[in-house]
Amino acid sequence: MTDILLGQVLSYSADPFGPSGPAAGRIERKGAVVIRDGVIVDHGPADTIRATYRDAQTTDYGARLISAGFIDAHVHYPQTGIIASWGKRLIDWLNTYTFPEEMRFGDPAYAARQADLYFDLALAHGTTTMCSFGTIHPASVDAFFTQAQARGMRAATGRTCMDRNAPDGLRDTAQSAYDESRALLEKWHGLDRLSYAITPRFSPTSSPAQLEALGALWAEHPDCPMQTHLSEQTDEIAWVKSLYPDARDYLDTYETHGLLREGAMFGHAIHLEPRERARLAEAGAALIHCPTSNTFIGSGLFDMARAKAEGQIVGLATDTGGGSSFSMLRTMAAAYEIGQLTGTPLHAAQLWWLATCGSARALRQHDMIGNIAKGMEADLVVIDLTSTPLIAQRASRAEDAWESIFPTIMMGDDRAIKSVWIAGQKAL
Ligand code: GUN
Ligand code: ZN
Repeated sequence: MTDILLGQVLSYSADPFGPSGPAAGRIERKGAVVIRDGVIVDHGPADTIRATYRDAQTTDYGARLISAGFIDAHVHYPQTGIIASWGKRLIDWLNTYTFPEEMRFGDPAYAARQADLYFDLALAHGTTTMCSFGTIHPASVDAFFTQAQARGMRAATGRTCMDRNAPDGLRDTAQSAYDESRALLEKWHGLDRLSYAITPRFSPTSSPAQLEALGALWAEHPDCPMQTHLSEQTDEIAWVKSLYPDARDYLDTYETHGLLREGAMFGHAIHLEPRERARLAEAGAALIHCPTSNTFIGSGLFDMARAKAEGQIVGLATDTGGGSSFSMLRTMAAAYEIGQLTGTPLHAAQLWWLATCGSARALRQHDMIGNIAKGMEADLVVIDLTSTPLIAQRASRAEDAWESIFPTIMMGDDRAIKSVWIAGQKAL
């Protein structure tokens, strides 16, 4: 069975932060995407495509935008229940809201319910792949993968390891973190479209022995992603320095335990020292920008232009429940605002690229997802660029395609998501 989707088709030929700039993003006004067996087999002008694939089933989305689905490169699905919790900064926020909620995932029925809710929300917001933290409970990982697998999605998560500075009931040991992570990895990694992400929460909640054990696990399974947090708030950094007095800097606590190389995904990475910046770029690790979280928890301003100029790999993420929205559109808007505050207004082509190709690159899955190109998996989102009267009136004045998309980036939400396709099947 071959499907053709008609609409405005957005694809990238290169990184729009590179030499070709925003022109690396192309919008085919009357375009078409051809899907067969879950894969994009062709795309191009609608007339040509329709003449070539005469027997295909056609869905006409008119002037709607067809893009690769959004990829949320850093999210905590177990924090869905505590999104928008008031008034705390990072460490207080963790202790007051996050840890009590994560404790509830000891109940597998609760974990299953929250995973189902989370995936419904993610799809409603056009997110087709995510890399999520679990909790310390294996049931949280089982619940996530069960949902992702049932929905045919490409997704990653891992058991969030903590052996200190966390309450009773949320602590493991170096050995049990290794053993339980390994058992989950062996159960799920590589099954269908699932990846196991090795997940030390962050250096303050892991002893050196635990980081060492997870570094060893990663060395045994180097194709897994490894996700954690880095340099989110200044008091957190001071705490890391007191807990690891011999470390050269925060990144060094990961580096000396085998947790810095390609495939590492560092959430936030805001307040970096020169040595850290150089080592991250050299190692090919990814920095994950979490703009709604960084404003909501008051963490600071990620300098995107600087990171990209340094050659860093950068992904974009909601970081919910620290982040205040499941929407990658809202996340792009926050990235734009932070760009303004750091002196560089990011172009719509760059914002959209971060939410698709950029996050795919951070996950080392850019040869499979994140773009509309021949051979890529058919995870697509269909966007209404006139989803509210306010957005519609602004878009109607647009003089080019990017200008017609920018109002949806700045003011759009789940109302703009008209359809979602997962592996070539209509999921929404
Ligand atoms: N640092 C360690 N854990 C967390 C978390 O759950 N959310 C955020 N935003 N930062 C963290
Ligand atoms: Zn996080």
